[in-house]
Amino acid sequence: MTRQPLIAGNWKMNKTLPESVAFTRDVVTALAAHPITVDVVVAPTLLAVHAVAQAAEGTPIQVAGQNVHPSESGAFTGEVSAPMLKAAGCNYGIIGHSERRQMFGDTDEFVQQKLRALLNHSLKPIVCLGETLEEREKNQTKERVSSQLSIACQNLTAEEAARVTVAYEPIWAIGTGLTASPEQAQEIHALLRQQLVESFGKNVANTMRILYGGSVKPSNIESLIQQPDIDGALIGGASLKVDLFTDIILTAQQFNEQS
Ligand code: 13P
Repeated sequence: MTRQPLIAGNWKMNKTLPESVAFTRDVVTALAAHPITVDVVVAPTLLAVHAVAQAAEGTPIQVAGQNVHPSESGAFTGEVSAPMLKAAGCNYGIIGHSERRQMFGDTDEFVQQKLRALLNHSLKPIVCLGETLEEREKNQTKERVSSQLSIACQNLTAEEAARVTVAYEPIWAIGTGLTASPEQAQEIHALLRQQLVESFGKNVANTMRILYGGSVKPSNIESLIQQPDIDGALIGGASLKVDLFTDIILTAQQFNEQS
């Protein structure tokens, strides 16, 4: 079963609006000589989403929101809704990032509501999950990620699940330079895949992408993407530099063409 790899850059709270647009143009230029056969997504700050979507129009780059509120509108100061993301040019939304869970109190149930909101507005959710270092050391990784996945995907039909991308991001590997080894990551990806098979059937589960995130860089993308259940990457730091981000995209693409 081949799944089209997805390389996504999560810019977090980095880059002003003009910087975001200039960066997008630079990536487009750097990729121009290569027909792009992987999916490429960038998630700028909400302030830059619209301008980046405009700069990316007609190019292989698609745009994601870094967060979304479950409601369509209302008294939710500082929040942004799925129809707003859609109207601004997004077609993906990142939800459940560990930084949102740890710093802004996003619970598994809240992530589930956000996932529903994205699907209801034809946005493709990228749902992040992962264990802390403490959970890994206590041998609780499988239990933790499995419960995050099952709550996030509760009440989805198989057709809805097919539009979801999962991103496994071990928290101890985010921004630390520590990467899960390809084998460590594959072990968890295989577990998540099996859970998706049990919930949505083999046909759907085998089309769903499971990304790895946590200190992905040009030097480790190849060994990660070679794993049978790693279908791309969600990248923080290395997605902020044109040469690193495009290197990762082109390496993933090369592997895709060979396989
Ligand atoms: P780093 O690639 O900087 O470790 O960040 C990963 C991440 O959190 C992507 O969402």
